[in-house]
Amino acid sequence: MPTIDCSTYQIKVDEAWDQLVNFIIQLKPSSIFVLVDEYTEENCLPVLQVHVPLEFKILKHVAGERNKNLDVCQELWKSMVENRADRKSLMINLGGGVIGDMGGFVAASYMRGIPFIQIPTSLLSMVDASVGGKLGVDFMDRKNMVGCFKDPLLVWVHTPFLKTLNDRQLKSGFAEVIKHALVASEPHWKQIAALNHLDEIDDWGTLVEWNIRIKNRIVLEDPFEEAGRKILNYGHTLGHAIESSLLHSEYMMLHGEAIAAGMIMAGYLSHLKLDLDYNKHREIAELIKRIYGIHTEGITTHLDSIMEFVMSDKKTVNNQLRFVLISDVGQAEYNQPINKNTIGGAIQHYVNMA
Ligand SMILES: NC(=O)c1ccc[n+]([C@@H]2O[C@H](COP(=O)([O-])OP(=O)(O)OC[C@H]3O[C@@H](n4cnc5c(N)ncnc54)[C@H](O)[C@@H]3O)[C@@H](O)[C@H]2O)c1
Repeated sequence: MPTIDCSTYQIKVDEAWDQLVNFIIQLKPSSIFVLVDEYTEENCLPVLQVHVPLEFKILKHVAGERNKNLDVCQELWKSMVENRADRKSLMINLGGGVIGDMGGFVAASYMRGIPFIQIPTSLLSMVDASVGGKLGVDFMDRKNMVGCFKDPLLVWVHTPFLKTLNDRQLKSGFAEVIKHALVASEPHWKQIAALNHLDEIDDWGTLVEWNIRIKNRIVLEDPFEEAGRKILNYGHTLGHAIESSLLHSEYMMLHGEAIAAGMIMAGYLSHLKLDLDYNKHREIAELIKRIYGIHTEGITTHLDSIMEFVMSDKKTVNNQLRFVLISDVGQAEYNQPINKNTIGGAIQHYVNMA
């Protein structure tokens, strides 16, 4: 299976485990910390321990986006100090995007930075979060408000981990697969456009690999998101606002579920502003509806809060909203100005699809 070259590191997909063992041994770390949550501790840590028979110190936090914050970082830094982590210690982040983003940030800032390896275990973290060096945590309920760019030493992808991921989480990760096709790859869109259910996918290894390659290509051209990398935020301005607004409510949506809703809204805006063909927009929206359904109640009861979060989006400049839109599948444009009223129309359009 392949090795993908990124800027300063490599991503290895389904390679023989002894490569990882040798990589770590050559580093000669003074100690190895493995960050898990309760689900990756149960499902993934035993696999790692069998294949990488080295001495690990386990750091654990409670799973979920609600725990991707500075309080948990402080607890992790405290455990590391108590367990005498030093500059030669290695951190291995074994988990989904929450562990990758937060564990990477904890490592990148502990003693001004210790080396870390990402072992993504969810679909979302394999195809997206572990690629491209963005790390961070949520702050004041705003997504990824505190963080940094720092590359790992290595990303180790073992796609059999997906077997223990539940259906809802698998679907959540698939939203980023849809996104990659919509912003950058028409041929891949054709492969997924007619899906009714994710059970129809039989080769996850290939799907994960092509997604990593698409994201890596975009990141290599613009590592710090000053220009072209922004297209990866397709569906995220409204998606993040929905995710943040509903985070502590009974309507809580997973990251990918919120992004899926955000992509239907962005598709409608793309039709209005960039003449995306209306039938194409409907085709995209229907795929998303088949897989995720339409979530109206949480969104309609949190409209004010969603608008507030949209207005505080990181991409908003001088009070003007900036969206990523598509003129066709595979043709994305960033920094598209959109006014507040138009956004209300896009949300209503989504709700009407129910
Ligand atoms: N850094 C980036 O570029 C980037 C890109 C996209 C998303 N993200 C971030 O990623 C996060 C979402 O990631 P996620 O969807 O992986 O969520 P997550 O990390 O919460 O993982 C989802 C759930 O699945 C469980 N899990 C993970 N792997 C498992 C496995 N193999 N078997 C059983 N259970 C498993 C986890 O314990 C967790 O409960 C968000 O915080 C988002 O902001 C970051």
